[in-house]
Parts: sequence; C-alpha cells; structure tokens
Amino acid sequence: MCGIVGYVGKRKAQPILINGLLRLEYRGYDSAGISVMEETGIKTIKNQGRVKGLLEVKEIEDLKGTMGIGHTRWATHGKPSAINSHPHMDNEKTTSVVHNGIIENYIELREFLTKNGYKFLSQTDTEVIPNLIHFYYEKTNKKDKMDFVKALKQAVEMLKGSFAIEVLNNDFKEEMFVVRKDSPMVIGKGVEENYISSDIPAILSFTKDFYLLNDYEFAVLSKDDVEFYDINLNKIEKQPKNIAWDVSSAEKDGYEDFMLKEIYEQPKSIRETIGARITLGVKSTLDELDFTKEYLESVDRVYIVACGTAMNAGMTTKKILEQFCHLQTEVDIASEFRYRKPLITPKTLCIFISQSGETADTIAALKLAKEHGAKTIAISNVIGSSITREADYSLYTHAGPEIAVASTKAYTSQIVLLAIIAIYFAEVLGVSSRELEELKKEILEVPKKIEEILDNTEKIKDFAKRISNEKDVFFIGRGIDYTVAMEGSLKLKEISYIHAESYAAGELKHGPIALIENGITVIGIMTDAELAPKTVSNLQEVVTRGAKTLVVTNQDIDKSMFDEVIEIPEISEYISPILSVVPLQLLAYYISKERGLDVDKPRNLAKSVTVE
Ligand code: F6R
Repeated sequence: MCGIVGYVGKRKAQPILINGLLRLEYRGYDSAGISVMEETGIKTIKNQGRVKGLLEVKEIEDLKGTMGIGHTRWATHGKPSAINSHPHMDNEKTTSVVHNGIIENYIELREFLTKNGYKFLSQTDTEVIPNLIHFYYEKTNKKDKMDFVKALKQAVEMLKGSFAIEVLNNDFKEEMFVVRKDSPMVIGKGVEENYISSDIPAILSFTKDFYLLNDYEFAVLSKDDVEFYDINLNKIEKQPKNIAWDVSSAEKDGYEDFMLKEIYEQPKSIRETIGARITLGVKSTLDELDFTKEYLESVDRVYIVACGTAMNAGMTTKKILEQFCHLQTEVDIASEFRYRKPLITPKTLCIFISQSGETADTIAALKLAKEHGAKTIAISNVIGSSITREADYSLYTHAGPEIAVASTKAYTSQIVLLAIIAIYFAEVLGVSSRELEELKKEILEVPKKIEEILDNTEKIKDFAKRISNEKDVFFIGRGIDYTVAMEGSLKLKEISYIHAESYAAGELKHGPIALIENGITVIGIMTDAELAPKTVSNLQEVVTRGAKTLVVTNQDIDKSMFDEVIEIPEISEYISPILSVVPLQLLAYYISKERGLDVDKPRNLAKSVTVE
C-alpha cells in the first residue's frame, strides 16, 4: 500500500517521478506528491486525488532539480487530503520524507516531539519521521552525510511498525537516504543515475538491475553510487540482481486495461509457470526443493496460508495433497492464522502464497511458523520479495508483473504451481498412479484450453450486460467448485462494487436461500462429475424461486432450465478452477466496464497490502 519512487541522476527528476508514480498508482490513489531538490533547497508539490492531478499544478513545471522523491497514498492515518499527502516535512522545512507503512507508536512519538517544541500540521503517522530526524540531526556536528545517516538511524530506532522511507535534506544537494523495515522497496541501478521504487515494474523501463534492502539497512544514493550500511552503520557491499521481466510486460500493450491484458496473458503465464517443471513419464523436477520420502512421511500436517485471491488459490490444493499424498492439509487466512495460535510443530510444513510477496499478514504468519520450527515454503511472483527472503524454500510463479489490483493471472499460476508441488510430493512419496501421470498431462494442456475459452467470450459479455445493474449476486459450487465460487465472488465485488456472496451449494438451504427472490442472479459452477447433479438440484431450488441463473460447466447436464450456460473444456476436477475461473474473471471485468468503473484501480483497494 502506498507507492514510493525516488530518482537521482543527470536528468530532470520531476517527469521521472511522475512517470514512476503513475505506474505505482495501483498501490494507492488517495493523493500524490513529490519533493525535488532545487538549487535553493527542497520544493514540494502535493495534491489530493490521482497522480495526474499533480500535472495540473502550475508550479510543477518549475521543478528543474535532478534528485527527488515521490509518493502515491493509500490513506491509513488521516483522511485523503492535500495536508495529509506525502511528502511530509519537519517544522524547519529542512527534511522531506515519504513513507510507506504504519508507525504504530506515532501518538507516543508526537507527544515526545511536542514536549520538545515540535508542531504537527497533518493527522498522519508519517509526520513524526521528518521531525524525529530533525531532532536527532540537530544533536550532531552536521559535518557530513554520516551525521545525517546517524540521525536517521536514531529516528528509525524510535519507530514501531513498518516503514520504507525516502529522505531528502537541504544539507545534501546530491544525496538521498533510504531505510526500510517490513515494507517493500527496491533500488534500481542505472548509469549515472539511480532509482528507488516500491516495486520493480514501476522502474523496469529504466533498469533491470536491482538492489534489495533488508530490514534496518540504510542506503545513500547519489548519481554515481549507492552506499549501503547495516544497523550499526558499518558499510556493507551488495550485488544487484538482474530481473528478467521484459518492459512490455509492465505496459498495457494495446489492451484497454491491465486486467483484461492479464486475463488474456494466462495461457502464457501458465506456460512460464510450468516451464521445465513437469515432463510426461519423468519424475517432476523442482530444483528449489530437496525433500526426501522420510521427511514427507514425517510431516504431521500441511498448512497453506495466504490472503484474498492467493488464499482462494491455496484452497484448491487441499484435495490433491490429501488424496494423492495423504498429507492432512489445512488452508487458512493469514490474518486469522497468525493470531489463532495454530498447532505448529517442527514436523509441520507450511506453504505461504503471495503474488506480491509483501503482504504483511502473510509475512507475519510465515515468521510465526518459523518461530515454531516448521519448514516453510514461499510461493510468490516477485523475485527477491520479502516472503521469499524469509522462507526456507521459495518457488516463483513466473507469471510476469501483475499490475491490475484484481488478481487474475497470479491466481491461475499459483494453482498450477501448487499442483506441481503436490505432484512432486506424491512422486517423492513413491505414489505412482495413472491418475498422477494423467494430471501432469492435464496441466500441460491447460494453456490451450484457456485459449479456447478466451476465443469465445460473446455469451459472457452478453450476460455481463444483462446483470450489470444488479445489487446482489450469489456464486455457488461444491467441492473444488466452491473454491472458484469464492474467487468469482471476490472478483465481482472488488471491481464492480456489486454485493456478491459465495456459498457451498449444499449450504444454501441452511439460511441464504431466504435471500433468493424473483430476478436475483445465482451463478453455479460445476466441474466435478460426482457433485454436479447435487449442484444442479440446488440450482433447481433457486430457479423455482425466480432466480436468474448462469452456469459454468463442463458436465453433461440438462441445460434447459438455466438462463445462460458457459461451457468450458473438460479437465480433471483437481485443477478445474484454472479453467472455470476464466469466465468469472471476464464476467467481473465486463460488468465493471458496463458500470463505467476504473477496472484496474477499484476504490479503497491497493495492489499490495503491506499493512496489517
Ligand atoms: C484480489 C486480490 C487480493 C490479493 C491479496 C493477497 O483480487 O488481489 O485479494 O490476492 O491481497 O495479495 P498477495 O498475493 O500479494 O499476498
């Protein structure tokens, strides 16, 4: 949440900062601002609303400096307003700060600073930071940059919570300062210029070489250099990592929205996820894992933990792990898991899924599992992200950058990777079955089958038109189809703002059916041959009560009673969500477009939830 950018080099900083902020806007879009170092000192321009609003501020063109910082905000403390926008400055207007994260003890720190004569203009937690830096910097000899870094260190040692902070100070016309803890930030290495960003895609068009900062590491960036210091201010060396994403993967490439592009990218992203990980007739190779039969036999339970869509992806894997590998598997929401004192032993295997790899609750859940001695696996889409640095083992989905706030290609890639991991476990455990080989074959065929669905979207568009003014929509399914109902309902509510609910179809009669009345829309998903007749009966019950129905299926059922049927290719029910979700992603997308909404940046949401 919140996007931060920084630039120091030989070019004018302002356009680079604005460009970076526009690309980072999916992290938050309540307000935006930049500070640029001019010959006369720091100049700040900030505004409530979207980044493009900054371009309408007349003074923006006056900014000529070649070093600056920028921020796009997802409001936590203090409502969206110009005064609460970042950058924030200290009372003396010597230090400018942008911050992503939450300072949990800001009230205490405000009191401390107030007692020392400081005043506060905003309601934000962030405003304590420039003032704390000022407070400590005043106590140094102000001889050189290390005095400033020392003051920065003293300030951040006072902070509780999470932060990625960029700092400019009037005494340093050629250097800027950064530090982080539990909030994402990367440093891009250029030629005679260096960059800072919350994530890689925003600056991918400038560089592919990135430094990753660990918690409480400081960096001092100048045009020609980046210096790193540990918490004791000892100088440390870092090597940049080269990121293989191509620039066009972070562009819309002719599509109207990133979400549509990412839905259409799924055949490609799944091919990338599969890579060389499975081959028919050969044991699956997962270079990242070195599990033995003895180890897997000793595992007492598997937890799969994640948030939102990533959790929905995790739900799909329980059946494969239990039925093929006989591993008792529980899937949990990270924000629940971390506080419910789960039973974790050194024999527990925990799998954490996060597209961004920066989700605060998922990282906290992972740390908890480690504290209890469990083995941990991270599944992420972002190389070097926090979750991958914390876990014992990391596997990447290789889906390419996902920019739209609503997750689509990450979800399907996560399911594919989880299924491959389950197959690997089964093979290590010595399970050799025709069904396992069949499952591999099915995974390899998935990209082509998604292409078939994507080539035939008229019915979906048409149904989207018909229900775009609805107030409530229900999604139902049984078994693995229920997990897709969850994802379909999440997609619809987040980008169309239509109230959507998902239910295990068998649960309808236990309460929710009371809400079914004439004209209400119910969407049923049926890919499991054994369970489909039962879901058909549940749908029959809502049709009788006047519901409008859409069915997504590959089963041979009587279709005449439904208003619309989207047929998808046949696929094993172990991985069917990879296909059955696609019409639901498109449905949510076209409904959002019908309603004239901003598909890529739905209200109140942000791509990467780095606060609890
Ligand atoms: C929904 C969505 C969110 C994320 C969730 C976890 O479309 O994008 O529900 O799935 O915030 O994010 P990651 O996977 O980055 O941990």
